[in-house]
Amino acid sequence: MSALKTPLSREKAGALSSLLEGLSHEQVAWVSGYLAGLGAEPFSVAQADHVASRPEVTVLHGSQTGNAERVARALHADLMARGFAARLDSLGTYPTARLKRERVLLLVTSTYGEGEPPDTAQAFYAFLMGERAPRLEPMKFAVLALGDRGYEHFCQTGRAIDARLEALGAARLHPRGECDLEYEEAARSWTEQVVKALAAEGAPTAPPALRLVSSGPVSDREHPCAAALVENTRITGRGSSKDVWHMVLAPTVPLAFAPGDALGVVPRNDPVLVEMFLEAARLQGSERLAEGPEDERDLAQALASRFEIRAISRPFLAHWARWTGAPALEAMLEPGGADELKAYVSGRDLTDVMRAFPVEGLAACELVAALRPLAPRLYSIASSAKADPDHIHLTVGVVRYEHQGRQHRGVASTWLAERVESGAELPVYVHVNERFRLPEDPATPLLMVGAGTGVAPFRAFLEERALLGATGAHWLVVGDRQFREDFLYQREWLDYRRKGVLQRLDAAFSRDGGVKTYVQHRLLAASRAVYAWLAEGGHLYVCGDAATMAPDVHAALIEIVARERSVSQEEARDYLHVLMAAGRYQRDIY
Ligand SMILES: Cc1cc2nc3c(=O)[nH]c(=O)nc-3n(C[C@H](O)[C@H](O)[C@H](O)COP(=O)(O)OP(=O)(O)OC[C@H]3O[C@@H](n4cnc5c(N)ncnc54)[C@H](O)[C@@H]3O)c2cc1C
Ligand SMILES: NC(=O)c1ccc[n+]([C@@H]2O[C@H](COP(=O)([O-])OP(=O)(O)OC[C@H]3O[C@@H](n4cnc5c(N)ncnc54)[C@H](OP(=O)(O)O)[C@@H]3O)[C@@H](O)[C@H]2O)c1
Ligand SMILES: Cc1cc2nc3c(=O)[nH]c(=O)nc-3n(C[C@H](O)[C@H](O)[C@H](O)COP(=O)(O)O)c2cc1C
Repeated sequence: MSALKTPLSREKAGALSSLLEGLSHEQVAWVSGYLAGLGAEPFSVAQADHVASRPEVTVLHGSQTGNAERVARALHADLMARGFAARLDSLGTYPTARLKRERVLLLVTSTYGEGEPPDTAQAFYAFLMGERAPRLEPMKFAVLALGDRGYEHFCQTGRAIDARLEALGAARLHPRGECDLEYEEAARSWTEQVVKALAAEGAPTAPPALRLVSSGPVSDREHPCAAALVENTRITGRGSSKDVWHMVLAPTVPLAFAPGDALGVVPRNDPVLVEMFLEAARLQGSERLAEGPEDERDLAQALASRFEIRAISRPFLAHWARWTGAPALEAMLEPGGADELKAYVSGRDLTDVMRAFPVEGLAACELVAALRPLAPRLYSIASSAKADPDHIHLTVGVVRYEHQGRQHRGVASTWLAERVESGAELPVYVHVNERFRLPEDPATPLLMVGAGTGVAPFRAFLEERALLGATGAHWLVVGDRQFREDFLYQREWLDYRRKGVLQRLDAAFSRDGGVKTYVQHRLLAASRAVYAWLAEGGHLYVCGDAATMAPDVHAALIEIVARERSVSQEEARDYLHVLMAAGRYQRDIY
């Protein structure tokens, strides 16, 4: 048998820790030896005394791209290790009938869309907010909300669930936590506080019962590894209005990834933008900062690698409003100024704000204290590790646009397309996404809908299913601007058609004729076949734009289900919620 040497990630160690919980020392050592025999990296095991009295705790997660789930899994593993009888479930599969029996509920959820729950949490959310939700008097609860302060409805789902649980009579065990994009530290601290609060309730907090420590390399958001850019090819035509690149990266350590995962890329800011930013801030760039790695203490260096200097955040505007006293900024931050704020932020960046409302004499340390850390950007992995474990393929659409006479350029996409040289190494990590996964059964039919760069994960799906000889049928619906210039991966799709891997391919081009044709129009035109695909147990995947494409495709699906089942829109919506909760309708949208 070939040695796999798969490193045990911290998450997997946590999950394994839960599974092994209750086994004897010898039994755990046997499992470790058995896995090592299969080629996995060995893990070390430490075991403490088991604790007799175990309060029941339920940990639930609502997650679209895996962050909330990761936090919930870590919390659950921690609780198990400390002797709690803890259950872990997704809001998508959690039986709501259990809710009134819960004594301690810990819920971690992100927010999507315009303040909406993640897909898997939609049915639970509708139930909790609805009239059928039970009284929850005996329950104690704590909510951790994940979000992004760049969005108008920051942490809205967590906030709403937190308020609703209280309104239904449950008692707050610990105040709601709220995490911005850099969620790890805040989540860790909230988790610690919650465990302490449980201890204060008289519950035991034994030292971890089982600790599994991977001895292999692990890369995650906090510990990226290096990958060399080995290929970078423009895949939109010469005359295209878009600039899309197919990139191939070679990680310098083995990375495990599956179709549906994304690659996190830690970018650098454009030196030209750093210059403009410094000028607008009336600073030189040579100012020394007190904190940060030694070689990144000069302000200009720190701005290039450590801080977000494009996206406008509400906290930055609040600082800037205070420093300038500008009534226009203050008005936007008032409770009634949300629409004005949204309109102002759209298309602008921080340099625009600083130019419009200049501040003299600002200290470098004050400025960076108002900035957010430069966040990694995610790109759907467009290749299968089974087909090529040593390379990761991406499909990157370059963000460039003009706003009020100024050219704006996306941080990561222009860096990847223009400034990373061939062969250069960049920091990356795999962003695991368990909610965008191929079905286990290779006979399950797939309907895949992707617009623009949204086709990327389907390239990985098809590559993997072809390699596995999956017998399930494949139907791909793609959308883009122009047939001649923007039909991404056209040759590959046609090849799959010829080989019988892809049974149906529909393409919608929006800028070829007078009338815009989008992916949802193709679905509506094939209404009966779409419904038959779902009714026969097919899995449906949607990838691409979250702002308009995904909601419009969802609306088309409601229309299709209502028409083909002869049911009301409400019933059709419920039907799709059930599919989502069952993992048969999954979306990777951004
Ligand atoms: C799970 C996931 C998977 C993803 N997969 C892919 C993928 O496969 N391929 C891909 O290309 N991207 C993908 N993305 C998006 C990607 O992560 C980045 O958001 C994207 O590349 C832009 O990053 P940037 O740093 O270049 O731009 P930024 O500097 O972050 O700027 C982007 C911002 O610019 C503004 N903006 C953009 N266009 C306009 C416009 N026309 N007018 C006004 N304002 C505008 C918007 O506010 C936008 O949020 C994915 C995102 C997620 C969350
Ligand atoms: N959040 C972010 O930071 C971020 C960054 C990059 C990309 N994105 C999103 O990711 C998606 C992929 O990017 P891209 O540049 O490859 O795609 P794109 O060219 O902007 O869009 C792909 C296709 O989708 C069509 N489309 C527009 N609105 C639609 C709708 N409501 N329903 C269905 N189709 C619609 C477009 O048509 P028309 O343009 O002709 O109308 C085009 O044909 C984009 O939709 C973009 O908005 C988000
Ligand atoms: C398309 C999109 C929409 C989002 N909408 C919101 C929002 O309205 N409010 C918010 O606070 N965060 C929003 N976020 C940020 C996510 O909640 C945040 O990235 C979170 O860490 C994701 O966690 P998850 O991986 O568990 O889904 C959005 C993110 C994306 C990609």
